[in-house]
Amino acid sequence: MSKGTTKRDRKEKFKIRVEFPDYTGEQVEAATDNTYMLPDVGEEATINYDGKVVTINVNMLNDIRKLGFGNYGSVMLAEVKDHPEIKMAVKRLGLIPSTNNLADYTATTDLKTIRAVGSCNFPHVIKFYAGLIDKRESQVVICMEACETSMEKFYTTMHKIKETKHLDILLKRMINHIVDALQFLKSKGILHRDVKPSNILVKQNPVIFKICDFGISGQLTNSVAHTMMKGTQVYLAPERIDAAQAPEGYGIRSDMWALGLSTLEITAGQHPFAKMNAIGIMSTIMTWMPEPPTILSTELQQLIICLLRIKQAERPATYDEIQASPAMKSLPVDITNGESEMVKSVLANIPVIPEDY
Ligand SMILES: Nc1ncnc2c1ncn2[C@@H]1O[C@H](COP(=O)(O)OP(=O)(O)O)[C@@H](O)[C@H]1O
Ligand SMILES: [Mg+2]
Repeated sequence: MSKGTTKRDRKEKFKIRVEFPDYTGEQVEAATDNTYMLPDVGEEATINYDGKVVTINVNMLNDIRKLGFGNYGSVMLAEVKDHPEIKMAVKRLGLIPSTNNLADYTATTDLKTIRAVGSCNFPHVIKFYAGLIDKRESQVVICMEACETSMEKFYTTMHKIKETKHLDILLKRMINHIVDALQFLKSKGILHRDVKPSNILVKQNPVIFKICDFGISGQLTNSVAHTMMKGTQVYLAPERIDAAQAPEGYGIRSDMWALGLSTLEITAGQHPFAKMNAIGIMSTIMTWMPEPPTILSTELQQLIICLLRIKQAERPATYDEIQASPAMKSLPVDITNGESEMVKSVLANIPVIPEDY
C-alpha cells in the first residue's frame, strides 16, 4: 500500500494532469499534460523546524501512524529520514484531472491558505512547514505541525470514558482559542467556512486548540464572501441555507454559528441534527431555539445561544464581542490543572486508527 493512501484513495487515481482553477476571480491559463500550476510547489522544499533548516522531499517522509482521514485524503504522522526529531502531520490531496471540480478547489485553497496563515507562527492556527508534489502518487503533500487529535475524536472518547468534570472550562478555552484564530484569519482577509469538531485540533503540554483544514476557506471582500461555496451541510448557518436571508453574503457570523453548534455537539456527544435528514434540518434551523445542557455554566449557555441566533444580525458583531462575553471573562488566563488532567486522560484513551482504515 502506498504512503498515506487507502483503497478509497487509489480508486480516485488518474494520470497526472493538473490545473487549478482560480476562485479569486483572476483567470489561470489551462495546464498542459504533466505540468503543475501550483506556484512555488515542487518536489523538494526547505523547512525550518524549530530553528533546524532541512531540505526535504517526499521520499524522506516515513509514516509513523494515521492521524485522520477527511473528505479528500488521509493525514499521517511522519518523521523525516535521518532527522527523527522532525515529526510532522502530512496531508495528501489527490491530484485529479481538472474540470472545475471540488477536489482541485480543495487542494489549491488548502495549500494557498495554510501557506499564507500557517507561516505566521500564530498559536491557534496550525503551523505550515512545506508543500510538496508527489509525482509518483499524483498528490499534493502538505507538511504541517502535528497535533495529538481532533476535537471530534476527543469528544467521542471523552463521552465513552465519562471524563467530563472539567468540560465547561475546557469548552470555554476552546472557544477562546478558536475565536482568536478566526479573528487572526479575518485580519488576513480570510473566512474559514468549515468550522466543526474535526477541523479543531488539540495539543497537550500545555493544552492548546488550533484550527486546521483550509480546503474551502474563502477570501473576504469588505468582510463578506460573495460566493455561497458549500461547507459541511449540517454546520451551515441559516443564512447559508437560504441565500435570500443574506443578500450581503457570507460573513464571520456564519463561522460563529458553526462554532456554537460544534460546542453543543461536543457537549452532547453528537451533533444536534444527527438524526435529521436535509429537509428536517432546513425546517428546524429556521425556527430553532437551542437549549444548551445545564451541565454547562449559565454564562457558557448564554454565549452558545448568542452564537446560534437565527438572524445573523443578532449574533455578536465582532470577535472582540465574544471575547468580552461573561463566559470568556470567567476563563482563568492560565490553563488549570483540571483542564490539563482532563485532556491527558482523554488522549490516553483514544484508540489508534488502524493502518488500513
Ligand atoms: N496537523 C494535524 N495534526 C493531527 N491531526 C490532524 C492534523 N491535520 C489533520 N488531522 C486529522 O486528519 C483529519 C482530516 O484532516 P483535514 O485537514 O480536516 O482534512 P479534510 O479536508 O479531508 O477534512 C482531521 O479531522 C484530524 O483528525
Ligand atoms: Mg476536515
